[in-house]
Amino acid sequence: MKKILFVTHAAHYGGAELFLRDIVVHAKQTGRHWPVVFLDDGPLVQDLIDAGSDARTVKAGAQILRLKRGSSIRAVVSALIGIFAVVGALIRAFRGVDVVCANSQKSLFLAGLAARLARKPFVWILHDLVTDSSFSPTMRRALVFFANHMTSHVVTNSLAARDALIECGGRADSISVVYNGFDFAADVPAASDTDRGSVLQEAGLPDLPTVGLFGRIATWKGQHVLIEAVERVPGLQALVVGDATYQDSAYFDRIRALVEQKHLSDRVKFLGFRKDVRRLMAAVDIVAHTSIDPEPFGRVIVEGLALGRPVVATRGGGVGEIIDHGTTGLLYPPGDGVALAEALRSLLSDRAMAARLAADGRSTVTARFSIERSVQDLDRVFDGL
Ligand code: UDP
Ligand code: GLC
Repeated sequence: MKKILFVTHAAHYGGAELFLRDIVVHAKQTGRHWPVVFLDDGPLVQDLIDAGSDARTVKAGAQILRLKRGSSIRAVVSALIGIFAVVGALIRAFRGVDVVCANSQKSLFLAGLAARLARKPFVWILHDLVTDSSFSPTMRRALVFFANHMTSHVVTNSLAARDALIECGGRADSISVVYNGFDFAADVPAASDTDRGSVLQEAGLPDLPTVGLFGRIATWKGQHVLIEAVERVPGLQALVVGDATYQDSAYFDRIRALVEQKHLSDRVKFLGFRKDVRRLMAAVDIVAHTSIDPEPFGRVIVEGLALGRPVVATRGGGVGEIIDHGTTGLLYPPGDGVALAEALRSLLSDRAMAARLAADGRSTVTARFSIERSVQDLDRVFDGL
């Protein structure tokens, strides 16, 4: 069996990082040894160690970590200066490894250089749509250059992410799609934990129809669209779960103010970042997804469906690869609070239809997005190098 080493820059609870956590934990449980090197500290390092996996940090300098999708050439050049020490440490970490696999943009650059110098096959897992306007033209060109010239293979988290990379100049012949995989058996909360009453009570809400929105608080995740929709559906209340990173804290302030301004404080509750998302999802009537930019994949959609919730999500990106509109969930145009309100109203008024969508959604996602399948798909990529 080949020795694989994963490198990723962030050790916090984002979707891409949770993807990595889940495959590495499953790999461990099935006799594979997939160690991870993080380029920064964070809670995931200890989580993986606690799960019996091999995780450690090789710290990148601050100039490198400050590099953003929209960074100027100057910032990129200044970061280059801090690169040498990290690349040296990574080359040492690559000893005895057969394949290096980067799970983020920053690790693509750093581990890509180190893998080239250490002459190791190198795979990049891409979790974003490179066409996304948040990437500066310089960053987009750098990503495509590295994808085409520094990797042995690229993995994307959806067909949409693959097509976006190709549209920007990525080589079509060396890309595979590996979907996020979930350990559905382990992830389903025990019946005693799913008590809807206790969840609503904790949130300070009465036992009335409730929609849940789960994910990072960020402008492009579109939490404001749900607030607009809830205002239009009398009797509906909402749990908004997730936190903002520093750069999105102004948006969080704005949506809190929006709730006040619309006099919805007794119907819309913000719960902040939670580790018990599954328990909360199991307690709501509907799971909503509101991203106003195309979602590269959308773990929360799969999670909601796997828990047997009807899901209403925005059309675009990888979402259409999870939900078939009218069969396994409902789709609506991004940013359209009126259409979201209509979809929510239809799910609440036609419970039989909602239950049918939820049941079909559940059987579809549990068949298509298992953790076993994702790990096997990655194995196939590694074996082919
Ligand atoms: N999540 C979480 N706690 C929260 C909010 C979100 O654990 O308070 C998890 C959620 O269950 C999902 C992930 O964060 O697994 C978000 O992934 P997704 O692909 O939906 O979006 P991303 O943030 O990666 O763009
Ligand atoms: C990224 C994307 C999200 C995806 C996740 C896991 O964070 O924004 O859509 O589900 O990666 O692949």
